[in-house]
Amino acid sequence: MKAIVYTSQTGHTQRYARMLSERTGVPAWSAKEAREKLQRGDEIFYMGWLMAGDVKGLQSAMDRYTVRGVAIVGISPQGNGDLWTEARINNGYSDSGGRLFYLQGGYAPEKLGFIHRMMMKSMATSVIRQVAAKGDGATDQERQMAEVFRSGGDLVRPEALDEIVQWFREGPHDGVVKSVPKVEF
Ligand SMILES: Cc1cc2nc3c(=O)[nH]c(=O)nc-3n(C[C@H](O)[C@H](O)[C@H](O)COP(=O)(O)O)c2cc1C
Repeated sequence: MKAIVYTSQTGHTQRYARMLSERTGVPAWSAKEAREKLQRGDEIFYMGWLMAGDVKGLQSAMDRYTVRGVAIVGISPQGNGDLWTEARINNGYSDSGGRLFYLQGGYAPEKLGFIHRMMMKSMATSVIRQVAAKGDGATDQERQMAEVFRSGGDLVRPEALDEIVQWFREGPHDGVVKSVPKVEF
């Protein structure tokens, strides 16, 4: 693997990328830095934050590099929807053999611009309502997420990278991520 390439808006994905770099010895570069350091077609591991179900920057990373694996960083407790059902069936691999991971990032409203803050606000309102409606039936994870939406929070856990570090050690890998996974919230 030539590099870890990441896209991060409020820093959670960047922190994960730097921690992963320290643990694997593979350099971590932002997508912008990577353009100067990497050649087209180079093998990378991509890390991007989740925005309204889309992985930021993944399409252009796939257009440019050979993406062997992807870590998606969102606020939701886990990845869900078709992609994860498929990946679970395939031991974490996409149809084309690229490895998919999900990491919990965090919510830092003070670092967001107006439009993104408004988008998150409506999401936050609906999540807080849904969790409240579940009452005692809400899980600890759901309660934690409602709390993060209420006041912001950092859910980055270094140990969440263990599985990815392990996968790096098992390499080299030859699968490729070929489509942008849509992630349901
Ligand atoms: C406009 C917007 C939309 C988001 N949509 C989702 C989403 O669909 N699912 C999710 O789990 N997290 C969503 N998030 C949360 C981010 O993915 C999360 O805050 C992530 O940690 C941001 O990473 P960063 O700090 O590297 O930018 C959204 C955040 C923003 C600002």
